Amino acid sequence: MYQLLKPILFLFTPEKAHKITTGLLHFILKLPFGGSMIRSMFNFQDQRLEREVFGLKFKNPVGLAAGFDKNAELIDDFSNLGFGFIEIGTLTPKAQPGNPQPRLFRLPKDEALINRMGFNNDGVDEAIERLKNRKSNIIVGGNIGKNKVTPNENALDDYLICFEKLYPYVDYFVVNVSSPNTPGLRELQEKEPLKKLLKALQDENKQREAKKPILLKIAPDLTESQLDDIIAITKELSLDGLIVSNTTIDRSGLKTDIKKIESIGAGGLSGKPVYEKSNSVLKYIRRHHPTVHIIAVGGVHSAQDAVDKIQAGANLVQIYTGLVYEGPALIKRINKELLKHV
Ligand code: FNR
Repeated sequence: MYQLLKPILFLFTPEKAHKITTGLLHFILKLPFGGSMIRSMFNFQDQRLEREVFGLKFKNPVGLAAGFDKNAELIDDFSNLGFGFIEIGTLTPKAQPGNPQPRLFRLPKDEALINRMGFNNDGVDEAIERLKNRKSNIIVGGNIGKNKVTPNENALDDYLICFEKLYPYVDYFVVNVSSPNTPGLRELQEKEPLKKLLKALQDENKQREAKKPILLKIAPDLTESQLDDIIAITKELSLDGLIVSNTTIDRSGLKTDIKKIESIGAGGLSGKPVYEKSNSVLKYIRRHHPTVHIIAVGGVHSAQDAVDKIQAGANLVQIYTGLVYEGPALIKRINKELLKHV
């Protein structure tokens, strides 16, 4: 059905199409029998899909990647689509508009997107109001970042504010230092600032009665020596896991006309072209840190892509761009395929 809808959706700008699809789902779910219809189409449950990862019990290993539901508006609706978990954010302490539009572009020939959204979000307090009212008990991760106006020297304050405020309302945290769209953010992936940031969050976490898992989301563009530093920090601080990976700034090997790519300009590339890149980072990390929990994300457009990531050592997978190109039936397809491999 989504494949019939897609050519119409692709007539609209990507941001408009996002609003139309999420609005349409919301509308259908409000209709009598809408919920049961959607669940019968997309939900797929089997005990063998359950996973226990960083102390949480996931009903299946397929999650919604960060950025799709930045403001915690879609949790209840999207819990009907068969996801095992949903990651909200990236949230920042204060609301911010993000970059001027257009800031999200489709590359249909590559089944990819380029975005420079720039952490547009309603701020952590608005998101919390929505989290307080959510009905679904699906696992929710809170992906946190810093405001654009906050200099890197004070970034820690922003992450701590988000951590403390969101603490009662999310099941796990993701420290996002890998978005290419906030100037200077990726510098926080360097050894010393990263260690300082993660240690402060872990110290804060340890003071709580019930610790919550903290994961780090990394870029697929890191060098092996940067990855070695991250692995060492992950071990030293007993971090709960890594999310591999965010979007790439690399533009090599694309089928889309170079002139179009140049006219789009800066941003993070997601979808099929990031698949190999994020997989090689995943494999490198798994080889050098056999026990760390990994959520693999990047270019999952088919059930086999997800199976490959799990077989390469991922504990869980997430999707974003694959949802735009394949539609929500992808979630069920992945889960069905995973069952063949248990
Ligand atoms: C993202 N992604 C992202 N990640 C993150 O940690 N915080 C965010 O706010 C966003 N925002 C965002 C917006 C848009 C429009 C896209 C396409 C992506 C990155 C996303 O979670 C994921 O890591 C990458 O897109 C790679 O996965 P896919 O899209 O290839 O499945």
